[in-house]
Amino acid sequence: MNEIYSKEQLQKLPFMDSNINLENRVEDLLGRLTLEEKFKLCSGRLMWHTKPIKRLGIKPFTMYDGPHGVRPDTVGETKCTYFPSGICRAATWSPKLSHEFGKAVAEEVREVGAHMLLAPGINIQRTPMNGRTFEYQTEDPHLNKVLAVATVKGIQSQKIAACVKHFICNNQETNRFTVSSEVSERALQEIYLPAFKATVQEADAWSFMTCYNKVNGIYGSENYNLLRERLMEQWGFRGFTVSDWNATANTSTESCVTAGLSLEMPTAKKYNKRNMKKAFQEGKFTEDSLNDNVKRLLRVMFLVGLYDADNTLPRGSRNTLEHQVIARKIAEEGIVLLKNEEALLPLDINTIKKLAVIGPNANFKIVEGGILSGGGSSENYPPYEITPLEGLKQKCKDKVEIIDTPSKADVTIIFAGLNHDPGMDAEGVDKNAFELPLDQIELINKTVRENPKTIVVLINGSPIAMEDWIDNVPSVIEAWYGGMEAGNAIANVLFGDVTPSGKLTMTFPKKLSDSSAHVSKRTFPGDDKVFYDEGIFVGYRHFDIKDIEPLFPFGYGLSYTTFVYKNLKMNKSKLRKDDTLIVSVDIVNSGKRSGAEVVQLYVQDIESSVERPLKELKGFKKVYLSPGGKTTVVFELGKRDLSYYDDVSGKWKVEEGLFSILIGSSSRDIRLQCKIEYIG
Ligand code: BGC
Repeated sequence: MNEIYSKEQLQKLPFMDSNINLENRVEDLLGRLTLEEKFKLCSGRLMWHTKPIKRLGIKPFTMYDGPHGVRPDTVGETKCTYFPSGICRAATWSPKLSHEFGKAVAEEVREVGAHMLLAPGINIQRTPMNGRTFEYQTEDPHLNKVLAVATVKGIQSQKIAACVKHFICNNQETNRFTVSSEVSERALQEIYLPAFKATVQEADAWSFMTCYNKVNGIYGSENYNLLRERLMEQWGFRGFTVSDWNATANTSTESCVTAGLSLEMPTAKKYNKRNMKKAFQEGKFTEDSLNDNVKRLLRVMFLVGLYDADNTLPRGSRNTLEHQVIARKIAEEGIVLLKNEEALLPLDINTIKKLAVIGPNANFKIVEGGILSGGGSSENYPPYEITPLEGLKQKCKDKVEIIDTPSKADVTIIFAGLNHDPGMDAEGVDKNAFELPLDQIELINKTVRENPKTIVVLINGSPIAMEDWIDNVPSVIEAWYGGMEAGNAIANVLFGDVTPSGKLTMTFPKKLSDSSAHVSKRTFPGDDKVFYDEGIFVGYRHFDIKDIEPLFPFGYGLSYTTFVYKNLKMNKSKLRKDDTLIVSVDIVNSGKRSGAEVVQLYVQDIESSVERPLKELKGFKKVYLSPGGKTTVVFELGKRDLSYYDDVSGKWKVEEGLFSILIGSSSRDIRLQCKIEYIG
């Protein structure tokens, strides 16, 4: 069992042979491990690695954060491309860009010698106050799913493991190590689980990270129902689970092993040798459970090529021009034009003489003088950062003078918003205010009095209140945290080289109490428990059913051009069991500029016997059109898109009767609609 092998002998062992079937390699290696070696493999070493087992040539498996680029060390010695934040990437509504991002970031993971990226973060954006909203994608389960699947596929196309996090209902930072998210089965099924499930079933995700919090009373890392039953048995997950860093603190060794937690990170605590041995000897967990956990980790080690010759694996690369272009494209396409009265935007570089650029975020950077403020574990050390001011200076060079006095300028741009200081968009604590800091509100209102042609560009990662100033300002842009190419992307959009096409992936409420998580302290932030009393009515589902006018709705974003929707067609008006409904619509760019439109399809059950959302996103397509250009967008829907989760039977169910198919440019701008009947 514990033979010592020479190098030559090791090379001849079956698990070393890449021509042998994966499962046979896994079984062969597992069969050679002693009990103690298995224990050893179950916990981390030095923050980002598993422990090597020299006797068998098992090298450390290395994993790094995070969702916006690789961060191989905590002092910034190795620079990597800093991509736009998750909410910005999602606002592109482009699965293609998510895939490109995944592939590019995985190339950087490979280049720094690692095997797994601790990303994507796909927790549902339940509240604008979550400190980590900027890292996540959206409030909508369908959009979340499509983008998560594309990202995971992109990452794993390079034989790098994606680690989908944080499983599950880690929707706030307040009390994150102890709080229990109290959530109904229907809300889990319809809102919180779908994207996680799809990354397994549609993208074969190789790893999941457990959450810090409890879910209905049980911590994520020892949650048998979540890990063993749902993820592994029901969904068919073949990868391994890893604890969030120190998420095992309040759990027990045996319940984690039994629940299916393969790897405790960053170091051995519940899974240290003594605890493992004792619990095992006392019969608190079985060798079968342990073997399954270890097998999963070994399987992923094989999948990423840990035992294969380097020249047989995809090549890594880092900080390439190609990656920088992807970062810039995501930043450009993620920018959302929120308001544009009298077409103040785009700016004309040939007529503007003086441009005032002011505001606390004009020089926004995540690394300043060697000091990092990236908001927690998704921080990055980029090789460079183009700030908004630098981007504008480059664009305006020799053409437009940049000044800092609004009263003397043709147009003023204020870069306002938040940053990654604790209490703003940062991990570990939730936001301490929904409003912009008072001095920024005063700056905006004072500036617009001095120069009515004032544009506010927001750099932030979550919805904020705007009621105190938005009516005074003609144009507002949401530019998010746009990564290291942000300044170039913003300048391209402001001057019309790029037509904005981003759409909000989260509803922007007028006031916080309009948001479904903010009914009382019980619903946010709770105490030892936080109650998801809103159930399935998260985000626009809540604003619709309660008939609350949001500041900006889900799916919203303006353009410099206009789009006409026409010729809505369906292949049938009655749908039987496994029929496919094909819906098509023509989109025409009726304006004078090239641009892109995100065509959204929502479904409404008109005759439901249970309470259902007034609309649910079930399809979207982003189309790019030149002026006068036309295209036909086609959607395919099935029974599943009409169904809801029935608490009583514990099954997805679709009721016979009429449904509306709503096609729109946002969740509140429905351009065309038709009805179909489900006849079972
Ligand atoms: C975060 C994870 C991260 C891990 C490692 C935790 O605090 O919640 O998202 O991947 O640290 O940095």
